[in-house]
Amino acid sequence: MTKNIVWHNAAVTHKERQGRNGHKPCLLWYTGLSGSGKSTIANAVDRLLFDLGCHTYLLDGDNIRHGLNNDLAFDDASRVENIRRITEVSRLMLDAGLIVGTAFISPFIADRAQAKALAGEAFIEVFVDTPLAICEQRDPKGLYKKARAGDIANFTGISSPYEAPASPDIHLQTADLTIEQAARQVVNFLTQHKVI
Ligand code: PPS
Repeated sequence: MTKNIVWHNAAVTHKERQGRNGHKPCLLWYTGLSGSGKSTIANAVDRLLFDLGCHTYLLDGDNIRHGLNNDLAFDDASRVENIRRITEVSRLMLDAGLIVGTAFISPFIADRAQAKALAGEAFIEVFVDTPLAICEQRDPKGLYKKARAGDIANFTGISSPYEAPASPDIHLQTADLTIEQAARQVVNFLTQHKVI
């Protein structure tokens, strides 16, 4: 596939881009069940960081599936391809020096490991740990109800697996946190690790 293709070195280096922003680039990789609060927390963090003057961008599962990944379904192979593309897009954004947030279920350990391998030390895994029972009780989009009724195939946590992180960099146990507290926990991590 990569035959006859030659890599061009950029005139403006990654280091030069990074130096302008006043913070390190990083990849905040949120993972968790549908309805766990990934998008809500990721947006709250993005707001805080943006208001601090950081250069950020957020890639959100539902939104990306409206455009870039609108050809993908929810069988295992489609989810793997979904995350592969997001990983590649995130790499470009990291190269541009941004603080990137990705809010995808990203259910498979191997895919998240691949994202970590490609992003290196910039990768920060954020486990939005909301028990299935709570996600199902909230059911903000009515999808669990449909999945239980058999109207949605391959639904994460019901008929498709979710492999929880064993040792996430940031563990948000959302049952005990407000959105604001969860977002602050992420921003505090970035401060402690001298990303911002
Ligand atoms: S994945 O597993 O990372 O490829 O999924 P992702 O791209 O994050 O998309 C998850 C959102 O798609 C909606 N949806 C489903 N989720 C899980 N399983 C099935 N079968 C499904 N069908 C549609 C759902 O709104 C998810 O949004 P969130 O924000 O996670 O609730």
